[in-house]
Order: sequence, then C-alpha cells, then structure tokens
Amino acid sequence: MSFTIAIDGPAAAGKGTIGRALAERFGLAHLDTGLLYRATARLVLDTGVTPVEAARALTSDALDRDDLRTAEVGQEASKVAAIPEVREALLNFQRAFAQRAGGAVLDGRDIGTVICPDAEVKLFVTASDVVRAQRRHAELAATGSTLGLDEVLQEIKARDARDSARANAPLVPAEDSIQLDTSELTILQAIENAAEITYARMSESGFQADLDSN
Ligand code: C5P
Repeated sequence: MSFTIAIDGPAAAGKGTIGRALAERFGLAHLDTGLLYRATARLVLDTGVTPVEAARALTSDALDRDDLRTAEVGQEASKVAAIPEVREALLNFQRAFAQRAGGAVLDGRDIGTVICPDAEVKLFVTASDVVRAQRRHAELAATGSTLGLDEVLQEIKARDARDSARANAPLVPAEDSIQLDTSELTILQAIENAAEITYARMSESGFQADLDSN
C-alpha cells in the first residue's frame, strides 16, 4: 500500500528537515526533489549541455554529489526548473518514487499540486524571510561559504520570486494543504506538528507505518 506525504514551500522553510524526520519516524522513503533540479543545474554549469539534455541524462549518482547545495547551483536550479521540458523529464521518476509500497515523503515546490495531487498528507511549510535567510546562512556557513546574511536573503528572495512567478508548476499551496509556519517553532516543535497530522491521516487511511524500521 502506498502513502504519500507531499511537503512544499519556499526555500529554507524547513521542508527537508521535516521530510527527513517524518520519513525516519514512520519508516518511509524520502526524496528531496530540489536535488533533481540542482543536479540538472550542476550538469549544465559543468558541461554546457542544455538544461533539457541534462535533465534527461540525470542518473541517481548525480544526486549524491556534495556540491549541489551552493547558492550558485540554487539560482541555476530555479532557472532550469522554469523550463517545462525539464520538469516533464523529471516527472515520472518522482511519481514512481511517491507510489512505492511502504510509503514515501517528497519535498519540493509542486508536490501537492502537480506531482502527487492525491497525496494523503499535504503540508505547505513557510517561515518569515528573515528566519529562512538566517537558517540558510547558518547551513551555508557550515560548509565554508562566506556569503553574508543579506546576500543569502537576496538569494532566497530572488529564487522564491522566480519559483512563484513561473507559468509551469509555480510555488503555490495546494488548496487542500495544511499550512505550517515554522518561524516561531523549534525544529522539534515543527516536526511534532507535522508528525501529529501524519499520524492522524495514517490512522484514517488504515496505512500501517513500519515503525520497527527505525
Ligand atoms: O529545494 P531546493 O531549494 O533545493 O530547490 C532548488 C530549486 O529547485 C528551487 O528554487 C526550485 O526552483 C526548484 N524546484 C522546483 N520544484 C521542486 C523542487 C525544487 O522547481 N519540486
């Protein structure tokens, strides 16, 4: 039986942290779909192939690279992500992942609206611009980045604006999503909120989580 949790929201709102924690707690597979766009962007930057060629050539090894989370790759990712043929090339992989027996968590921008409109749980995770910039700044600094807080704030604002304005699969909450503002929450509180929502939906749908897997 499949059970899909779709987590969408703007950059650095806490989607990935919540997604990973839910996956671990309920024994689900987790896919950070931003990595697909980042790996596509990385290939474009490194080899000069077109974004569509890069998306079609993507292998799972490309997702394991440790140089995908830079601000430069993030910006290029949001440019390639606006190209409909790029999104099309990455669609089937995401849908197949979401349908796997045992359940899956996917986080991104269009999971609840386009990739998995029938997901059992749909969360739209947000936080204020400043809180998101502080979080991303700390993450980047831990990997040796020297970008200042203000540069990080401008970077995520530019990306959110592009992601929200694009014609194809824009960043918008699914009508039936539950909004979770994490600005004032600790990581643990945000995870607990999301876990409660998930647990309630699992009980309603009769899905048996594999709680022994963690
Ligand atoms: O989630 P992350 O910040 O790593 O995503 C990088 C970029 O990939 C986003 O700014 C967005 O343009 C794109 N993306 C997308 N759809 C998704 C996930 C990411 O368009 N489902």
